[in-house]
Amino acid sequence: MPDPAPTTLPAPRLRTRFTDLLGIEHPIVQGGMMWVGRAELAAAVSEAGGLGIITALTQPTPAELAREIERTRKLTDKPFGVNLTILPTITPPPYDAYRRAIVDSGVTIVETAGSSPEPHMEFFAEHGVRVIHKCTSVRHAVKAERLGVAAVSIDGFECAGHPGEDDVRGWSWFPPPPTR
Ligand SMILES: Cc1cc2nc3c(=O)[nH]c(=O)nc-3n(C[C@H](O)[C@H](O)[C@H](O)COP(=O)(O)O)c2cc1C
Repeated sequence: MPDPAPTTLPAPRLRTRFTDLLGIEHPIVQGGMMWVGRAELAAAVSEAGGLGIITALTQPTPAELAREIERTRKLTDKPFGVNLTILPTITPPPYDAYRRAIVDSGVTIVETAGSSPEPHMEFFAEHGVRVIHKCTSVRHAVKAERLGVAAVSIDGFECAGHPGEDDVRGWSWFPPPPTR
């Protein structure tokens, strides 16, 4: 007798440079979301095979971010990232201390957004962090590529959050791998 037909089909997989780069199953990123990107959401997305992201500045202090990262680790052993939103403000948050909390916690994927990741790139590169930079225009994406980010995503005019106004739709690209 032939085996009975399976009652469930295996989940389809779309393998891309992005899934290979981050070690995830599906090329889906849950972008950082202020007040929403906490351990439970990020872990659920990562458990489902995407890339879950905690939002650093949702945590009032770098020490609390470190605790949130630990909480996420208890909920998933799959890759997840931390969003560092860099917005111009009169009293900036202590970005250096937040990024130190990220690397000290062993996180190796960071989504930057808000303005140029340039001031943070050297530090992240030294600590083996892959940076996904999120921006809203091609010129900023080209600059991020020059700075050595691992991937770029563009929040175009149809996106939620702070969409772009450059008549560019949402998309992502990968800089060529370093030639060494
Ligand atoms: C409620 C909410 C809060 C967000 N907060 C942030 C944030 O703090 N930092 C950030 O980089 N992006 C933030 N975003 C943008 C998202 O990460 C994402 O880039 C955007 O929603 C585009 O994806 P979508 O079209 O799938 O919604 C936020 C989006 C939403 C809806």
